[in-house]
Amino acid sequence: MQNFDYMTPTRLVFGKNAIAKLHDVMTGFGKRVLLTYGGGSIKKIGLYDRVKEILKDFEITELPGIQPNPKYDPSVLEGVRLCKENHIDVILSVGGGSVLDCSKAIAAGACYDGDPWDLITYKVKAQAALPIVDILTLAATGSEYDCGGVISRTDTNDKIGYIDPLLFPVVSFLDPTYTFSVSRKQTAAGIADAMNHTIEQYFAEDTTLLNDGFCESMLRSLMVNGRKCLENPEDYTARAEMMLCCTYGCNDILSLGNSSSGWPCHGIEHALSAYYDITHGEGLAIITPRWMQHILSEHTLDRFVKYGINVFGIDAALPKQEIARKAIDATYEFFESIGIPMHLREVGIGPERLDEMARHIAVNEGLENAYVPLTEKDIKEILVASL
Ligand code: NZQ
Ligand code: ZN
Repeated sequence: MQNFDYMTPTRLVFGKNAIAKLHDVMTGFGKRVLLTYGGGSIKKIGLYDRVKEILKDFEITELPGIQPNPKYDPSVLEGVRLCKENHIDVILSVGGGSVLDCSKAIAAGACYDGDPWDLITYKVKAQAALPIVDILTLAATGSEYDCGGVISRTDTNDKIGYIDPLLFPVVSFLDPTYTFSVSRKQTAAGIADAMNHTIEQYFAEDTTLLNDGFCESMLRSLMVNGRKCLENPEDYTARAEMMLCCTYGCNDILSLGNSSSGWPCHGIEHALSAYYDITHGEGLAIITPRWMQHILSEHTLDRFVKYGINVFGIDAALPKQEIARKAIDATYEFFESIGIPMHLREVGIGPERLDEMARHIAVNEGLENAYVPLTEKDIKEILVASL
């Protein structure tokens, strides 16, 4: 087992009507609030009005319109400007992972005099960040319980994961009823995202029985409850368990003591959504089985066998190669069965820029250190197989 030094300081307030505690929580941080949100879903579900009513004695500045795959320009830059001009005390992020990720970059940028891109690219280490409180409306990324944010820059085709312990939300409000209105497409993408977060931690060199079991249980739960959410979007129990699974996805709790896998599918997907602005979870679902096929070898066989038996219930008496093949097929078939387009062409990505993307990924994502090291040629082959 590897050494680790671990802390997750985020308070989770989970369940129906969790935001009854919002006023008390916010009072601890000051009066001037930057309220961040996306394209309007929070207005449709009545959450915007409820938040405004609860916080009527606060001074609220708003940053609306944060897009999926949140953009540095305008959203991060505009948010930083608003924080500085209005002497904001605390950011309240209401929405999905994109709104929260953008809020994290704003929180750090607001406490820095230079260009916030310096922080996101680690040219400069942030010395402080504004506190962030969030009300999550979409189960997927785990941003509500981690210290990362992923920011896109369209002029350079960059999509960068910005990680800093200063960026943990101080409080995350998780009310599963707010996810009832999430579309089929986004629900399926959320399931795929959280499953891939788990797979990225399960397929590693050095793992433990404890972590393997935790990951296997996560995957089974996400498949069972994810399906129930799609069949009945207002199934509270299923939405709640899916939400909690997603929350565990990215804060390392599934892999404490494991060696790092380098998160290869994320490294590849981030370029896809940087170049083509596709939905993150869909890109991951397309890449995952092709990456699995690519890395299957004598060396990785036992991992696939364990995955196949414990996650999909494949007959342990079968030959190992057959179990592994069935496990990869089952992964593909599950994603397909929940309605995810399983080819890059279906999400608008043709062969034209695969070389450029493979190079971009090889140069920027450090996948030569992945669980199974990936060269530019490997990445290109995975992309071609995904077409
Ligand atoms: O913009 P609005 O109108 O709010 O609509 C959003 C958006 O169109 C909609 N939505 C959100 N809550 C809803 C809802 N629609 C109806 N009812 C609701 N209750 O869903 C759409 C997608 O929202 P978005 O926030 O983009 O989705 P998600 O939470 O999946 O976030 C994806 C982003 O997170 C990054 C991804 O790369 C991507 O940029 N990630 C962040 C991570 C992290 N911070 O730890 C880890 C992940 O691996 C991931 O990379
Ligand atoms: Zn992800």
